[in-house]
Amino acid sequence: MNLGVNVDHVATVRQARLAQEPNPVEAAKICEKAGAWGITAHLREDRRHINDKDIRTLAKTVKRLNMEMAVTDEMVKIACEIKPHSSCLVPEKRAELTTEGGLDVKGNFERVKNAVTMLHEAGIIVSLFIDPEIEQIKAAKDSGADYIELHTGKYSNTSGSEQQTELERLKNGAIYANEIGLKVNAGHGIDYQNIAGILTIPYLNELNIGHSIVGRAIYVGMEQAVKEMINLMSEYKF
Ligand code: PXP
Repeated sequence: MNLGVNVDHVATVRQARLAQEPNPVEAAKICEKAGAWGITAHLREDRRHINDKDIRTLAKTVKRLNMEMAVTDEMVKIACEIKPHSSCLVPEKRAELTTEGGLDVKGNFERVKNAVTMLHEAGIIVSLFIDPEIEQIKAAKDSGADYIELHTGKYSNTSGSEQQTELERLKNGAIYANEIGLKVNAGHGIDYQNIAGILTIPYLNELNIGHSIVGRAIYVGMEQAVKEMINLMSEYKF
C-alpha cells in the first residue's frame, strides 16, 4: 500500500506569518526521499494554505502529485494546465476547517462526470473522495472515475462501538468498490494510532495522510515522521 503525504499544513504554518518558509515543495522533496509514493496538495478556492505557485511548482517537481480540488471550472482548468499525476475531487465549503463529508457524486452527477471527462482528456487519473455509501460508490463508477478515496474522517473522529460501526462501513464500501471495478484509496484524519483499524480495510491502494505527519514532523523531522508511517503501513496484509 502506498503513502501519499498531504503537505497542505506545511503551507499553513507559512501562511500563519505570510512568510516564505516553511515551503511545501521542499517538504515534499524530503517526503519523497523518505519513501513517500506520492505528494498530495489541496488548492482551495480561498488559497488558505497551498497557493497557485505552490501547486504549479509541485506539479513540476514531485514524481506523482495528487491535486485535491473542488469540482469547479477554475480548478478543472488549472489541473488541465498543470497536469498532476492524479486529481481527487472533494467537496469544499468556505467556512469549514477541513473537508467535511464526502462528495455527493449522486446529487451532482452531471457536474462530476463532466469534470472526470475533462481531467481524463488531459491524461489525469481521477479519484472521488466519498463516504462509504453504496449509492455514492455506484455513482462514482458511473461517472468514469478511476479511484474512490474513502472518507475516513468519521472513523477517525469517533471511538468505541461507533468507530467499529464506521470501520465496518468502510470495509463493506471497499469490498463493493473492488467488486464493481473501482480502485480504492482512503484518507482523512488517519494518524499513528488509528491507522491500526484502517489496516483491516481490504483492497486499499493508497492512504493520503497530512495533518498527523506534519504534526509529528515538528517533533522528529519530516523524514522520520514519514518513515514511521510507512513502517506502520508495511503491516498491511491485503
Ligand atoms: N484526503 C482528502 C481527500 C482530504 O481532503 C484530506 C485533507 O486535506 C486528506 C486526505 C488528509 O487528511 P489529514 O490531513 O486529516 O490527514
